[in-house]
Amino acid sequence: MIRAFDAFSLPLLRWLDAEDAHRLAIQGLKLLPPIRPPKDDAKLAVRAFGLNFPNPVGMAAGFDKNAEVPDALLRLGFGFVEIGTVTPRPQAGNPRPRLFRLERDEAVINRMGFNNDGADAVLRRLAARANHGGILGVNVGANKDSPDRVADYVKLIETFAPVASYFTVNVSSPNTPGLRNLQQAAQLDDLLAKVIDARERVREKAGDTPVLLKIAPDLDLTELDDVVHVARSRRVDGMIVANTTLARPSSLRESHRAKEQGGLSGRPLFRLATRMMAETYVRAEGAFPLIGVGGIDTGGAALTRIRAGASLIQLYSPLVYKGLRLVEDIKRDLASTLLRTGREHLSEIVGADAAAITAEDWPV
Ligand SMILES: Cc1cc2nc3c(=O)[nH]c(=O)nc-3n(C[C@H](O)[C@H](O)[C@H](O)COP(=O)(O)O)c2cc1C
Repeated sequence: MIRAFDAFSLPLLRWLDAEDAHRLAIQGLKLLPPIRPPKDDAKLAVRAFGLNFPNPVGMAAGFDKNAEVPDALLRLGFGFVEIGTVTPRPQAGNPRPRLFRLERDEAVINRMGFNNDGADAVLRRLAARANHGGILGVNVGANKDSPDRVADYVKLIETFAPVASYFTVNVSSPNTPGLRNLQQAAQLDDLLAKVIDARERVREKAGDTPVLLKIAPDLDLTELDDVVHVARSRRVDGMIVANTTLARPSSLRESHRAKEQGGLSGRPLFRLATRMMAETYVRAEGAFPLIGVGGIDTGGAALTRIRAGASLIQLYSPLVYKGLRLVEDIKRDLASTLLRTGREHLSEIVGADAAAITAEDWPV
């Protein structure tokens, strides 16, 4: 069924304007019949942040910003779904066009700017599906015109704790001016202290909701030292590496499109995101698990990211080029690698290559 859906939808969606195609994909998923999710190989199960993931392949933030189709995505075989970024108040985002495909590079550039329906509307949708099960992360961010960005994050933690399996504190979108400054040590320390405080305040009624920090791949290594140090000292539960990049690798073939402003994702992000994963893994020293995202478009790429330090992975842009069958393809390849190498669980290979990767030349 997934193959049939891909065969029909991929050529059609690629022919449309990128944002229209995204809208149509969401509408199509709303019509997905209530099929049972495929049963996952027990070897693929991952325990992280106190949660039991049936498989390590998640839908990355930004696809289902408004929580319109999380259950359809779970039924298609994702092990978890991250909705958002959600901001407290609804926000229109940047003017269109703001989403571009770089076909020959299998990449995407976006400058959406946190367009979303706002916390009230998203909360209503999540409350309506609260007992459907599945792991659902809520990615939170600040309104562009907020007078107090830290207060925005705190408010969202308090609002969504009862319906979120985990939170992602997104301080790494390049499309909200100044947001990435929240990655600087002093600001990050203040933000995380208040976010963790908020999580503790609502713990009694909402339970223990893990808080993850999502970072940009464009931090230099001194900045990464600080970020991991602060994340560890504030006892966050994990990190997501990484968001889109402002870099434009010289290898890009669609050089005209590459000039569009915004964050680049998909295949050209793979090497940088893998390197940043390994650098984060060696700095985290096992203090918390990591989620890898950025250009993962085959089972081999997923394996490389896991060996660089990821306990779990997420996908977005590669789905545009490979279709939804990518989820099953990755799971099948990971399971057969474990079988072939006589391993019981993915956790046995997490970070196996991290030190070696950090010794390589910096990817350009
Ligand atoms: C159109 C688009 C919108 C995105 N929106 C968000 C967002 O709202 N919040 C966020 O944390 N990441 C967002 N991302 C980043 C992705 O979650 C992911 O980190 C990045 O695209 C790299 O993964 P990929 O190469 O698999 O796409 C967005 C990405 C794209 C392509």
